[in-house]
Amino acid sequence: MTTAPKWVEHHGLRRPPFGKDVDDGDLWLPSSRERVVDSLVDACHERGHVMLTGEPGVGKTCVLRALRSHLPEAGFRLTYCHNVTLGRRDFYRQLCLALGLSPKATAAAVFHEVTHHVQELGEARMHPVFLLDEAHLLHQDVLDHLHILANYAWDQKPLLSLVLVGLPELTDRMTLRRNRSLWSRIHARLALGEARPEDTAEYVEHRVQLAGAKGNPFGPDALVLLHEASAGRLRDIDRIATLALKRAARHKARKVDRQMLTHVLDADSLD
Ligand SMILES: Nc1ncnc2c1ncn2[C@@H]1O[C@H](COP(=O)(O)OP(=O)(O)O)[C@@H](O)[C@H]1O
Ligand SMILES: [Mg+2]
Repeated sequence: MTTAPKWVEHHGLRRPPFGKDVDDGDLWLPSSRERVVDSLVDACHERGHVMLTGEPGVGKTCVLRALRSHLPEAGFRLTYCHNVTLGRRDFYRQLCLALGLSPKATAAAVFHEVTHHVQELGEARMHPVFLLDEAHLLHQDVLDHLHILANYAWDQKPLLSLVLVGLPELTDRMTLRRNRSLWSRIHARLALGEARPEDTAEYVEHRVQLAGAKGNPFGPDALVLLHEASAGRLRDIDRIATLALKRAARHKARKVDRQMLTHVLDADSLD
């Protein structure tokens, strides 16, 4: 059994509370985020295509994980594309691998392999959902081709759903004249915003409790400052809150107050 680091023990926690590895069942889903997940779920049921944008660290990839656990396993086959920075041929080869197919040599053969598989899934009443994370990095030649995949239909019914997730500049790219065919096929266009002040407090509480905290080690003033400093982006909250807990442990303090957090932020901005 691995023992928890000293700073974690100091705060009476079982594990570091702000780690990246959040179990699907432990995700923080206030009603505002639940609504975004519901819209994604609806789009998949309707066999539509979706786009979700938001600033770095607001929780987009975690929303995709929530989507995975909200969709019934029977009926949907989700495929997560890890690297969207590839050219068209390699993009389809990767898609083949993710689908458990053998990648073919030419772009046409790969495309055929993917569409054939999609059709088979359709016949088995499994709706394929392709999740393209960091989609603002997609090569233009992949974007040029995606509308063909998006338009891929059999018996008038779309055979797959595309879920494009990325930074707000994804919208700028999609609204370029060149991409208007694909853009017009994206039915649901969703945005994930930063946490509001009360969300930040709730998020911190949620994560420390899951790590076994008896009370909240962050005082109300510290939470206000944490929200300002992170602008409500969860990844920044995680980083700053962890630094603060470590500093509190070094100073043998039970609570993180505003002064402690100010020191942490000053030191952080020097790095
Ligand atoms: N719903 C959530 N529940 C719990 N933690 C979250 C949630 N969303 C984001 N986080 C935390 O914030 C970090 C960044 O989230 P992530 O989804 O990777 O952001 P993005 O994809 O928008 O850059 C995650 O590693 C996780 O620690
Ligand atoms: Mg992400």
